Amino acid sequence: MKKSPTAKTPQPNRTVSIIGTGSYVPERILTNADLEAIVDTDDQWIMDRTGIRERRIAKEGEFTSHLAAAAAKRAMENAGVTVDEIDLILVATITPDTFFPSTACHVQRLIGAKNAACFDVNAACSGFLYSVEIAQQFIANHTYSTVLVIGADKLSSIVNWQDRNTCVLFGDGAGAAVLRNREGSHGVITTYMGSDGNFGDILHMPGGGCAVPITRDNADQKLNTLHMNGRETFKQAVTSMMKAAQKALEQSGLTTDDLKCIIPHQANIRIIEAMASRLNVPMSKFHINLDRYGNTSAAAVAIALDEANRTGRFQVGDYILLVVFGGGLTYASSVVQW
Ligand code: ACO
Repeated sequence: MKKSPTAKTPQPNRTVSIIGTGSYVPERILTNADLEAIVDTDDQWIMDRTGIRERRIAKEGEFTSHLAAAAAKRAMENAGVTVDEIDLILVATITPDTFFPSTACHVQRLIGAKNAACFDVNAACSGFLYSVEIAQQFIANHTYSTVLVIGADKLSSIVNWQDRNTCVLFGDGAGAAVLRNREGSHGVITTYMGSDGNFGDILHMPGGGCAVPITRDNADQKLNTLHMNGRETFKQAVTSMMKAAQKALEQSGLTTDDLKCIIPHQANIRIIEAMASRLNVPMSKFHINLDRYGNTSAAAVAIALDEANRTGRFQVGDYILLVVFGGGLTYASSVVQW
């Protein structure tokens, strides 16, 4: 007799591993002092409220796919895999080169991954961890064996450069990881994902989709740019990242004492400080680079992971926690044994 499916707590699965990471940020640096010449702001305000000192801005003709492809090449090199071995490419982004083809297809063309299936994932800043979970499922089910996961955004293309409330916060960049089945005790142990569409309008781009196609009038009203309720976003960011982190730890049977390193979404230093205090974890456990890159959306946690990996913040066997929050709203957290 056929058994009916039963709901159960996700079981740790340690066979799917991140076997390599890479990242790329554009060369051009936009400092807080540079922003003082664009909007009514100052370095002191930006540093005190956000911890951001500078961010990278893509040059003209440099699109999300170019940032993504550069990060992908570094991740494949770090993983020791050739481009022909990639059989799925996932690009998490809210700033695709085009609505379609997907940015993943653009990346496929740029890197020559002729054996890969490709699609984009839209979960705003949470997109990289959502994509890690999708990759994990495909690999665990033996559908694909080597998956390239990329978080990439060119937020400078949707920021309103006349709005000081938002333009100081964001930057451009990409981070990537190669995931593969690796027998043994190490791997992505669990990922918890959550969303709440009721809070969609606290951080969104109202125009550009089929609901509000862009016209000359609404472009003048900047409906094709990012809009944010900063205070509400801050509150929701802390609450939802705390929930995601606690759920992921619970699912993996670990506590914060077991963690070597926490890699949070790089939105605002005060959000990370609030989490550190609530989790009762020292700030030194968090890998932070938002001072140099600002908030790079889907790329943020992926760039930080690559940096932490390459600078030896954790070793084989160490437990790390990744935790993100983004528009949607969306949130997620992964526990990984490196
Ligand atoms: N420079 C100078 N003054 C500014 C600036 C600026 N860049 N921006 C806003 N102000 C002013 C405001 O106009 C306001 O002035 P007023 O009191 O005369 O009206 C004053 O500073 C205080 O503004 P608040 O919004 O209350 O400042 P707050 O302390 O909340 O900080 C901030 C604002 C930094 C945006 C904060 O709310 C925040 O970080 N929110 C979360 C943002 C975030 O993380 N977004 C992305 C998350 S998800 C994703 O990554 C896509």
